[in-house]
Amino acid sequence: MKLDISKTGIAISAELKAKAEAANELLYSGKGAGNDFLGWVRLPSSITDAELQAIEEAAAKLRAKADLVICIGIGGSYLGAKAVLEAMSNPFQLLRKEQTNPTVVFAGQNISEDYIYELMAAAEEHSVGAIVISKSGTTTEPAIAFRLVKAALEARYGKQEAAERIVAVTDKARGALKTLSTNEGYPTFVIPDDVGGRFSVLTPVGLLPLAVAGVDIRALVAGARKMEQATGTDVRFDDNLSAIYAAVRNELYAAGKRVEILGSYEPRLQYINEWWKQLYGESEGKQHKGLFPASVTLTADLHSMGQYIQEGERTLFETIISVAAPQHKVVIESDGANLDGLNFLAGKRISEVNRMAELGVQLAHVDGGVPNIRIEIPTIDAESIGGLLYFFEKACGISGYLLGVNPFDQPGVEAYKKNMFALLDKPGYEEASKAIKARL
Ligand code: PA5
Repeated sequence: MKLDISKTGIAISAELKAKAEAANELLYSGKGAGNDFLGWVRLPSSITDAELQAIEEAAAKLRAKADLVICIGIGGSYLGAKAVLEAMSNPFQLLRKEQTNPTVVFAGQNISEDYIYELMAAAEEHSVGAIVISKSGTTTEPAIAFRLVKAALEARYGKQEAAERIVAVTDKARGALKTLSTNEGYPTFVIPDDVGGRFSVLTPVGLLPLAVAGVDIRALVAGARKMEQATGTDVRFDDNLSAIYAAVRNELYAAGKRVEILGSYEPRLQYINEWWKQLYGESEGKQHKGLFPASVTLTADLHSMGQYIQEGERTLFETIISVAAPQHKVVIESDGANLDGLNFLAGKRISEVNRMAELGVQLAHVDGGVPNIRIEIPTIDAESIGGLLYFFEKACGISGYLLGVNPFDQPGVEAYKKNMFALLDKPGYEEASKAIKARL
């Protein structure tokens, strides 16, 4: 992976380099804020072969039984698997006559009645399995979805067979999902206590659904492992890409930038953006501080957001994930009539045009006052994506410490839940319920 910050206009001072190195050390020494949640730091190198094998075996059982696996979870218990799955999947696989892997679809990441209805209706035409993921085991959205999926599987297959089609990923001891899994006899994987949701993609939270979908989870972990080594405390600042990225985005914030837009020219990476938004938004957006993480998919969004990025408020900078090599080759052909005037592109690969778009946009945005950070991955494969995920996680830990927040808590996500429970008359919320209804 490469990182280019030459178009940010930022020169990182020796002082900031030292601070970033110190922040990285805090992640290892455990002397910083949120030190109960640092299990992700050494996660790639500590995953054992036996753990990977157990995940692969559970995945193989589900794959043998189901051609549709409903993966239930929200936030950190959803976005990692979704992001990697989108990145690793042919977007047109469902149009192919032959399906080589079960289709993994997601539920419990919203409370839309139409979404769950349509999913359950479609599921009737398939042999179905389910993975239910919740660290706390008490999150409302996935709990509602799982109640419906469980009932449907039991009605269709009987209780015993349903229990063989369901795998749970949850806390080792606490929470309603743990109790339910024990009572029902579901195979269960544990989310380590010291790994928060948004840092959990390399635990069974991400690895199990990905293995079910046929993703090479060993390559994913291998890529993350390499990045763990490349961003360790023994790596000096100038060679530590996560530290550089963390430092430069903090300098841009200090210089008045308020929004970081993550973008790429590959639509498969769209959900990497969504995963990254949670990682950075939930880690840094506190104490009324933090860059707002936004995203675009290019070139599509140049035709919607391009105007704003070029000429709107000058509080933005961009981070582009650039992919050095596509997996396939498509060449633009010459056309006799040339009515579209595109013969100047004849003989060129589509990726060359995409690359020139990227370079042209970069310079246009830089000229328009939008600094540009460029992250280059060699290609979209499991190893590169594993490296990219860990790169962002490590940078997020360093960046949060540089910003002066605890990057590993999320106190603000509770506020909406209290209101929702009060509005739904949950027992125990009687007073809050009266108060909130009076405000409607
Ligand atoms: O990052 C987080 O901690 C959150 O996004 C959680 O992952 C999300 O709220 C889901 O929580 P749980 O896994 O407990 O159901």
